[in-house]
Amino acid sequence: MLSREQVQEALSTVIEPTTKKSLAQLQWIRDIMVKEARVSLTVVCVKTDEETKSTLDRQIKDQLAAAGINDVHIRFREASEHEKEEAGMKQAEPTAERFKGRGEGLEDLPLLDPASKVNFIAVASGKGGVGKSTVTVNLAVALARKGKKVGLIDADIYGFSVPDMMGIEESPVVLDGAIMPVERFGVKVMSMGFFIQENSPVIWRGPMLGKMLRQFLTDVKWGELDYLLLDLPPGTGDIALDVHQMLPQSREIIVTTPHATAAFVAARAGAMAVQTKHEVLGVVENMAYYECSGCGKRDYIFGRGGGAKLAENIHSELLAQIPLGAPDNHISEADYSPSVYKESSNVGQIYADVAAQIIQKCGQD
Ligand SMILES: Nc1ncnc2c1ncn2[C@@H]1O[C@H](COP(=O)(O)OP(=O)(O)OP(=O)(O)O)[C@@H](O)[C@H]1O
Ligand SMILES: [Mg+2]
Repeated sequence: MLSREQVQEALSTVIEPTTKKSLAQLQWIRDIMVKEARVSLTVVCVKTDEETKSTLDRQIKDQLAAAGINDVHIRFREASEHEKEEAGMKQAEPTAERFKGRGEGLEDLPLLDPASKVNFIAVASGKGGVGKSTVTVNLAVALARKGKKVGLIDADIYGFSVPDMMGIEESPVVLDGAIMPVERFGVKVMSMGFFIQENSPVIWRGPMLGKMLRQFLTDVKWGELDYLLLDLPPGTGDIALDVHQMLPQSREIIVTTPHATAAFVAARAGAMAVQTKHEVLGVVENMAYYECSGCGKRDYIFGRGGGAKLAENIHSELLAQIPLGAPDNHISEADYSPSVYKESSNVGQIYADVAAQIIQKCGQD
């Protein structure tokens, strides 16, 4: 089985047709997943017309075949304006340097520096199990699909779930003392789950948690980021408070179900944000209704109106109502992940719309 680095290495001679630079040098080979004899990856390119795609497809498959891999799944994504600019303006590091982080110089600016341009967004809820992690993961992926550079911290240190939800099987590597986040669907992820063996319980208490979070912010080589999303544990406990104190500039999204009680409890998370002077970007009502796949009729199984009422109470707005339904991903697919909705699905589109609202609210249009 090849490692991700070996895949990069094998593809080091493949040239991006428009810029005439190597894909590896541009760092435009993303999301490499190796599973036994199968490799899947995303290729970023300036043009995604059929000719470009088939040329790259052939070259990549030839190179990987030479390295002994014949089962290859390639996705293509058009480069964002920012990526195109970067490709034209500056020479990226050579392949071997890839894991040392992107945009040398910039990533040395600590995330916690008030001058940092990263938009921090904490996703909070009053109650557990309302879909905070699902919303965080899918919003992060939706922002990345729009070409944004996105990081995700699974700040639910006891109840970490993000790696499993995104189908991440590899662990972060440490380079020169810095932890490299794991990239999946274009999102750089850091979670306590990466450091816990075989689902054993986490028995650290109190101050350790704050330290862990601080380390995720300071010792992880995030590279340049537009957004850093934090999946908070449920409620208004110590970790939520730590995040508020550590990241005074962070904004919030509050997740609730439509039930009146859930919305009432979620209001506490909203009140905490207000007390600690954090801007609430909006409310996401998850599990809002069930839509019959046959007739399209909507049933409001968990009640109705909780999200809108909460938004009104905390003087914010309802960003989306997300229906019930698991993602339509099959185990056999190379990019299988239990909780990420495909871009083309209904729910994928709702998340794309939330991402657009967030980008607009953060003034990143
Ligand atoms: N819209 C939805 N339709 C169906 N199932 C969903 C939906 N959103 C979330 N779920 C499922 O509900 C469960 C709880 O979701 P999730 O883990 O995202 O919630 P959470 O608020 O992060 O929970 P916790 O408080 O434990 O951290 C998961 O099994 C998830 O797959
Ligand atoms: Mg969670």
